[in-house]
Amino acid sequence: MIKNRRVVREFQYTVPSPSSYPYQWFWDSCFHAIILSHFDTESAKKELRSLVANQHENGMIGHVTYWEKHHTVLNIGWGFEHTSSLIQPPLLAYALWRVYDRTRDGDFLAEIYEPTRKFYNYLVSERDVRNVGLVGLVNPDESGEDNSPRFDGELELPPYHPVETNQKRRFALFDMHKDCKYAAVCTSKFFWVEDVPVNAFMVWNLDIMSDIARILGRKEDAKTFKAHEWRMRAAMRTHMFDAGLFKSLTGMNGMKLEEKTLARFIPLVANLYTQEEAAHLVAWDLTDERTYWLPFGVPSVAQDDPAFDANEPTWGEAWQHPHWRGPIWMAMNWFMFHGLNRYGFHTEAEEIRKKSLALVEKSGFREYYNPLTGDGQGAQDFTWGGLILDMA
Ligand code: GLC
Repeated sequence: MIKNRRVVREFQYTVPSPSSYPYQWFWDSCFHAIILSHFDTESAKKELRSLVANQHENGMIGHVTYWEKHHTVLNIGWGFEHTSSLIQPPLLAYALWRVYDRTRDGDFLAEIYEPTRKFYNYLVSERDVRNVGLVGLVNPDESGEDNSPRFDGELELPPYHPVETNQKRRFALFDMHKDCKYAAVCTSKFFWVEDVPVNAFMVWNLDIMSDIARILGRKEDAKTFKAHEWRMRAAMRTHMFDAGLFKSLTGMNGMKLEEKTLARFIPLVANLYTQEEAAHLVAWDLTDERTYWLPFGVPSVAQDDPAFDANEPTWGEAWQHPHWRGPIWMAMNWFMFHGLNRYGFHTEAEEIRKKSLALVEKSGFREYYNPLTGDGQGAQDFTWGGLILDMA
């Protein structure tokens, strides 16, 4: 965390990986604040301050903040000077809560609450294009799972295709978003996914926003956030729940996606499954050794899905590797660890914690890991392994 720390004027943030990701990333910074809250609360506060510093007028916070521009990586004409035009999974309220919980610094809570409130209001008002109570994404990258097979359908790609092709389609969407003047209602004509994890994170974080508002004496806000949470909870049940699982939806008629990814386990963090449904999910899906319970942990895509790909090619740059189509990602382990504990599945949660630690011990701080061999893949000196500090 210290090696990846960057200071620009009065701002401080952490880069996910010095060579591959040399800027500030949205959900990474939420993870960083949580990790830092364990041993350096001042830096945790700084991480969130810099994250909200370049918020847009309408409340949007770009998924990348370009504090330094001399890098060649992801040098994209977004149309904005300091940030990208996309969002990332909305974990800000939870990160803020965790820093507050450690410090009990009410002034800091009040300071970051304002931009945080604007951010969630933006999501609730601008990203519910179908007016069904769900938040939608205009680009796969907004999910944080950039090339997950959940987005293949909307990108018109088969389950197996070159990473370059995937990236080209996503990049073309960046331009369409710009042409649409960043209005989701326009960009959604080209790409629209109401994704399970992002909506589960919304439910989880809206609940926290309501608690934070109450602590700050903002009773009306507390009520409004609670109401948003319940509307979204109900919408997920009505539109996404099918045969024991929450499924992401695509397009204007909300077609259910059937790809087998670990998205199905994320609603555990937001208490969206009943105890009985969760027990079924853990017994029949999560711990099935043919699909998700692989030797080194839970893969981003089930082993029996046609898109599953765990192999790192011996050529190419980090971004050309399988990414979200099979490998294990630490943040996902962290969500599952907390989700499973929430439902009392302590044995499975402990197994995930142990495997997470084993991966870092075997292969170091890498972006992701091969679920069959435990080999480290993708970026080097990647921060997410630090989340193990928060698995206790
Ligand atoms: C990759 C990941 C994304 C992450 C970013 C920076 O693009 O897919 O989730 O935020 O790297 O670490």
